Amino acid sequence: MARRHGRRPHESTVSASFTVHLCSRAGCPTMEKMLHSAPIQATLPDCFIFPADKRPPATAAALSLPIVDLSRSRDEVRRAILDAGKEIGFFQVVNHGVSKQAMQDMEDVCQEFFRLPPADKAGLYSEDTQKATRIYSSTMFETGGERYWRDCLRLACSFPAGDSAMDWPEKPRRLREVVERFTVQTRGMGMEILRLLCEGLGLRHNYLEGDISGGDVVLHVNHYPPCPDPSTTLGLPPHCDRNLLTLLLPSMVPGLEVAYKGDWIKVQPAPDAFVVNFGCQLEVVTNGLLKSIEHRVVTNLGVARTTVATFIMPTTDCLIGPAGEFLSEENPPCYRTLTFGEFKRIYSVVKLGSSLNLTTNLKNVQKEI
Ligand code: OGA
Ligand code: NI
Repeated sequence: MARRHGRRPHESTVSASFTVHLCSRAGCPTMEKMLHSAPIQATLPDCFIFPADKRPPATAAALSLPIVDLSRSRDEVRRAILDAGKEIGFFQVVNHGVSKQAMQDMEDVCQEFFRLPPADKAGLYSEDTQKATRIYSSTMFETGGERYWRDCLRLACSFPAGDSAMDWPEKPRRLREVVERFTVQTRGMGMEILRLLCEGLGLRHNYLEGDISGGDVVLHVNHYPPCPDPSTTLGLPPHCDRNLLTLLLPSMVPGLEVAYKGDWIKVQPAPDAFVVNFGCQLEVVTNGLLKSIEHRVVTNLGVARTTVATFIMPTTDCLIGPAGEFLSEENPPCYRTLTFGEFKRIYSVVKLGSSLNLTTNLKNVQKEI
C-alpha cells in the first residue's frame, strides 16, 4: 500500500438516541465485541436498537435482480450489463467463470472460520481500520454510536500475487488456499465485467485497468448471526460501496436490500450467481452515467448468514475524477477529482437519517468538503 492515512477519532460521537451497552463475555476478553462467539441472547442490547423511523419496514418487496449470463454473445452481455446497471445498479451474473467448487469451498471455509473456538480467532481482533487482516464487529463506517448486527473477517489480497496471504488466519487449515483460489477467479470475473462495461460505454477495453482497479483486492467475509429482534436493527447500515466494483457471494439466506425508486427491495439470490454492483469510483469516472446504489442488510431470527464481498479497489494514491469521454459543454463534471485515499477519508460516516439519499448525495458530499 503506497500511502497511509491517519485514523480520525470517531468513538466520541455517541448520539443521544443510542445507549452503548457492551456486555462483557466470559472466556475471551478480546472477543467480547464479536457477536458470533457470544452466548445466545434472548433480547437485543440497546446499542443495536434503532429509533422507530430508522428500522427496517415489516415488508419490503422481493425482487429477482436481472440475471446476466456471461456465456452469451459479447454483444448481448455488454448490452445486458449496461441496461441492468443503469436500471437498478445491481445485477446477478451466472456462467461467470468462477467454478462451483471454488464458490462452495469458500462458503464452507468461511462458515467453518466463524465456528472455530474464540481462542483461535482472538489474535485477529482489531479496531484499527488500517489493518489489512482483522476481525471486527459492526461496521467500519463511523456511526453515531449505534452498532450493527454483523461480524466481519477482512482480508486483503495483492495482485500480481504478493505476500498478502502471510498474515491470513492459519485456521481452518485450508483457508489460505481456498481464499486464494476464490479471489483469483473472482477478480478475473470482475476484470472481465469491467472490460465489458468499457466496451459498452465506448471506452477502450482496458480503460479501467491499471491503478484504478489495481489496488489490493479486499474481501469482507460478513457473518450475521441469528438476531433476537430483526425488526429493530440492521446487519449493515444503508451505504454505497466506495470502491470500483463489488462482487458478492450472497448466500441463499436472504438479507440484502437495495434502494430502488425510493423504497427498499429484498434481493432473492439465484443459485450459483454472484451479485454485482458499481462502487462510487465507477459513478465518479462515468460522471454519474453509472450509479453506485445504496444498499443495506437486514438480519433474521433463525439462521446465521455468511456472505463474501470482493471489492475491486483503486490504489490509495490513484487520482479519480470524471473521464474526459463523459464531459462536454452540456455535461460539466459533477464530481471532484480526489485520490481514492482522500475519498475514503471523507466518505466514511454513516448518515442513518439520510437513508435513501446517499446515492444522489455523492455529489453533495463532495461539495461539502
Ligand atoms: C458489503 C455488503 C451485503 C451482504 O459488504 O458491503 O453490502 O449481503 N454486503 O452481506
Ligand atoms: Ni456494500
